[in-house]
Amino acid sequence: MTKAEAKKIESLKSLTWEDFYKTKFENKMPYFDKNGRMFDCLFAQQFTPKLLQELFDVANKIRKIAKSKEGLDYLRTLLSHKRAMLYFVQPSTRTFVSFQSACYILGMQVSEIRSTSTSSELKGETPEDTIRTFSSYADMIIMRHFEEGMAEKAAWMLNKTKRPISIVNGGSGKDQHPTQALLDLYTIHQSFLDKGGINGKTIAMVGDLKRGRTVRSLTYLLKHYKGVKIIYVSPDYLKVGDDIKAFLKKHKMPFKETADLEKALKEADAIYMTRIQDEYDVSGESKDIDYSKFHLTKKHLKLMKKTAIIMHPLPRRKEIDIEVDNDPRAKYWRQERNGMWVRTALIAYLMGIDDKILNI
Ligand code: CP
Repeated sequence: MTKAEAKKIESLKSLTWEDFYKTKFENKMPYFDKNGRMFDCLFAQQFTPKLLQELFDVANKIRKIAKSKEGLDYLRTLLSHKRAMLYFVQPSTRTFVSFQSACYILGMQVSEIRSTSTSSELKGETPEDTIRTFSSYADMIIMRHFEEGMAEKAAWMLNKTKRPISIVNGGSGKDQHPTQALLDLYTIHQSFLDKGGINGKTIAMVGDLKRGRTVRSLTYLLKHYKGVKIIYVSPDYLKVGDDIKAFLKKHKMPFKETADLEKALKEADAIYMTRIQDEYDVSGESKDIDYSKFHLTKKHLKLMKKTAIIMHPLPRRKEIDIEVDNDPRAKYWRQERNGMWVRTALIAYLMGIDDKILNI
């Protein structure tokens, strides 16, 4: 690290949380790195093309090693001396279980808190003190929180202590879900390996684009690929946010917005369905939205390209009819399993054992 970079990090440390939170993303990024590597995984924008490729390579290698008992036994030795804290105080099935499985694959011991009603937060302890407490016991915190910015705040706070440990954002309010974007991108990458890769593909993102954090995070990652076009398909009230549109314009990424699912299906190489995020309703507004036009059914399949893929971060409600599940283009079950492999790769990277895996 140069003297100027070290000075910059010191000056970031002196900021109040409010000022730090407002600091431009590009300026505060080094605060979440250590020795030139990502230390806290908080935002999709932290993933560079080089890092993405490395994580995909590590994930592929882990998958290969894990095919045999000997391989799995070896992987379990790599982090058997480390502990992870899973702090998930917003509902989750696959992010929680896939991270837990990823820890087990690498031999990490895992503790969990899944609700503020079973932690001392019920007695009035702040989330900040709760997180600081985890750092007394664990070597990494993987967290999902209902409040935007809480994962970033945890990293900001712990990086100033004598015992900084990596924070991984497993979903923060309506804001970001960077590891979901990582597994989504890995799924697109693997699906188009022999079809020209991600470059030049048209991705249709469908549904609640206003409040869907997976859509936001995936958009940030698609910036790294040439000629990618995005079609945002949503009801008028649930259009993608202005900040995302500004990002797309800044990076000259072509996109369009429509409410016409059938038209988008004809053009898309990847169809990314999402559910309505009514947990973020202010006054029950979702019930007035006709979401049925944003459901994928068997009748839609014939409109799609033969080489297209269908994705969903899951859980689903009715956005994809179960009759679609057996179509070879449906990739969402594979997508969620991919989550376990890329999250294992990410943990390996953050704990500094990625080289050990790649060099086997
Ligand atoms: N996609 C996703 O985050 O799923 P869970 O809410 O089940 O973790």
